Amino acid sequence: MKTQQLDQVFRILSPRYSEEFFAENTSKLGEELSREGILVLNDFLSPRAIKELQAEAAALKPDAFRSSSAYNLYILPTDPNFPDDSPRNRKFKTTKGCIPDDKIPRSSALRTLYDSPAFRSFLCKLLKLQVLYPYADALSSININYYDPGDALEWHFDNADFAITLLVKKPTKGGDYEYFTDMRYDDDGDENYELVRQCIDGEVPPQRKSLDEGGLMLFRGNKSLHRVTPVEAGERILITLNFNTKPGIALSEKSRQTFFGRTT
Ligand SMILES: [Fe+2]
Repeated sequence: MKTQQLDQVFRILSPRYSEEFFAENTSKLGEELSREGILVLNDFLSPRAIKELQAEAAALKPDAFRSSSAYNLYILPTDPNFPDDSPRNRKFKTTKGCIPDDKIPRSSALRTLYDSPAFRSFLCKLLKLQVLYPYADALSSININYYDPGDALEWHFDNADFAITLLVKKPTKGGDYEYFTDMRYDDDGDENYELVRQCIDGEVPPQRKSLDEGGLMLFRGNKSLHRVTPVEAGERILITLNFNTKPGIALSEKSRQTFFGRTT
């Protein structure tokens, strides 16, 4: 019980996510993440914390940097050996607003969560890692992402091995999370362009995960093709909790410029 008294995170989680819950359920949840490539805990934050974070995100929104970026789904330079409309080179687009870490108040519940020893230990066990480190730059560790009507995060594989997100506000229409699990490489370890083509051309239906406000999602995004469909009504506010497996790593200057409009 000592950790629970010291660790403020339990003040912002739903009562069922106690220290005992983590002790009893983490290995089972870790198995689910390994098997499915995705884990959703839909009632993770308490209703009060959700309200607080919605108010905080709304207050910060006027300062959000709006970005629109075009990329191929591998987030790699164009390969001249393939046609422009091939799965390798086809361009997709992401439009959103973003508040970087240095604009999030010191007192935010997001920092309580991000810095919590109990939460980090839970994440490490789920991801089978020893330690998680914050980003070395001042912008990239915690981000608040805003998707207004028309905004979307189109098909891609992540560069990072895992993603940790928290949904703060759910749109009233659209903004659905769609994915294809573990379909990156064929049996020879090569990119499976034909399977990717079937997925992005709608010949294979994607899996969908419904995330509630206050829901935590862990996702193996470098092997699973995924997207968020355009928001049609309301707004989608998604927190990304970004960690590294090694100390001293900053997000690339190019990515910082793209998503935050500045590098420092
Ligand atoms: Fe992603």
